[in-house]
Amino acid sequence: MPDLLSIGVTLLLLLVVYLSLDIMGLFNWGNKFQVEGRTVLLTGASYGMGREIAAQLSSRGASVILVARNVSKLESALAYAQSLAKSPSTQRFHLISADVTSEAENKRLLAEATTWNGGRVPEIVWTNAGSSVPDLLLNTSVETMRSQMELNYWAAAYLARETLTAWLYPTTPYSPQSVEKGGQSEAPRHLIFTSSVIAFVNIAGYAAYGPAKSAMRALADGLRNEILLYNGARRSSTSTGQAPAPFDVNIHSVFPGTIKSPGFEQENKTKHAVTHLLEAGDPAQSEAECATACIQGLEAGNYSTGTNWLSKLMRVSSLGGTPRNNWVLDICGQWVASIVWIFVLPDLEGKVWGWGKKEGMPARKTELS
Ligand SMILES: NC(=O)c1ccc[n+]([C@@H]2O[C@H](COP(=O)([O-])OP(=O)(O)OC[C@H]3O[C@@H](n4cnc5c(N)ncnc54)[C@H](OP(=O)(O)O)[C@@H]3O)[C@@H](O)[C@H]2O)c1
Ligand SMILES: *[C@@H]1O[C@H](CO)[C@@H](O)[C@H](O)[C@H]1NC(C)=O
Ligand SMILES: *[C@@H]1O[C@H](CO)[C@@H](O)[C@H](O)[C@H]1NC(C)=O
Ligand SMILES: *[C@@H]1O[C@H](CO)[C@@H](O)[C@H](O)[C@H]1NC(C)=O
Ligand SMILES: *[C@@H]1O[C@H](CO)[C@@H](O)[C@H](O)[C@H]1NC(C)=O
Repeated sequence: MPDLLSIGVTLLLLLVVYLSLDIMGLFNWGNKFQVEGRTVLLTGASYGMGREIAAQLSSRGASVILVARNVSKLESALAYAQSLAKSPSTQRFHLISADVTSEAENKRLLAEATTWNGGRVPEIVWTNAGSSVPDLLLNTSVETMRSQMELNYWAAAYLARETLTAWLYPTTPYSPQSVEKGGQSEAPRHLIFTSSVIAFVNIAGYAAYGPAKSAMRALADGLRNEILLYNGARRSSTSTGQAPAPFDVNIHSVFPGTIKSPGFEQENKTKHAVTHLLEAGDPAQSEAECATACIQGLEAGNYSTGTNWLSKLMRVSSLGGTPRNNWVLDICGQWVASIVWIFVLPDLEGKVWGWGKKEGMPARKTELS
């Protein structure tokens, strides 16, 4: 007759084994982001991290549609992605020049991408176009605040809305006959947002950009919950007259920290010195390193991906009601982060306060007065 103590110890040991396997990812094995033989629509693909994302997805066997404004830069990014193709004879590449801040342009580019893709909406859509114009709020025009929101929030919201509509409510309704069982048409779709670590912690100098990337994060969180309605309806026996899509839809966000990209160089033109000071210790990644980190997060099946240690730490420190990638690791990370903040917050605040005390009132653009 086993006593209570040995039953307790056994249960505890089983729990430890379970948690260890969970942490090692044994319950989440395999690549959750298969791109081979599939088509990716990627905005902001002509230079910066987007160019590397296109190339790395190409090397994994994806066909890629590259979107940005400047055609000659798109052409060179397309040639680069093509040169790294895994199966050059079957993978295809296409470029679309569009300003993604326009709602109409998002409609056009998705329609053009679908036609080019043989009438199928691309299976993976990644809204990556974005850039930051950092400055103190009181030195920023309302026009800049709005255009930052247009590019870093609205562009993603337009494309997300168009894409989800095209996937879930196609003009030609899904019929069971048209679906090849177990084939591409049933493989999950992926909608991916490129946000920023700034969505977890905003600091002096990003008053126009930070809120846009936070709004994007909130959009992704809401959609991540909302999409379950459609994924659930697929398994329903209740007929509403609207045929469900034959696939699940997955939503993801990636949160880069500093990327050494043309966009980051551009930031230098308006970035306040105190922002430089706050960012001085931040880890910086090359475009390729950051692209790899994003794709690895997607391959792990993670809903949200920090691309370096700082972004990972900030992610777990501000989980709120956001879906967890791994309950054990994310909760432990949360505990660590809450201790780290005890030191980081006074440091951030002290630096900004100290700057004001030393340098005095900041100069302001005269045209803003
Ligand atoms: N760099 C960083 O440190 C950093 C940190 C965190 C997050 N991020 C985010 O990561 C993403 C990539 O950043 P990055 O630094 O690699 O960007 P980047 O070097 O500035 O490149 C931006 C890309 O977006 C395109 N683009 C810009 N405005 C556009 C518009 N209105 N319509 C269509 N395409 C447009 C650009 O091409 P065209 O100019 O030809 O249109 C280019 O392909 C962005 O969403 C950015 O906000 C960057
Ligand atoms: C596109 O980029 C090229 C190469 O950097 C540049 O020469 C050209 O002026 C740009 N075109 C536009 C329309 O901005
Ligand atoms: C941006 O400016 C800072 C300080 O002014 C400088 O140290 C840094 O090298 C510059 N970075 C880029 C990418 O131009
Ligand atoms: C996926 O998320 C888990 C839990 O947060 C994390 O430990 C893991 O490193 C992530 N994987 C990648 C490749 O980012
Ligand atoms: C405000 O903007 C002007 C023009 O871009 C710039 O010269 C100035 O340094 C900015 N002021 C501060 C405090 O950043």
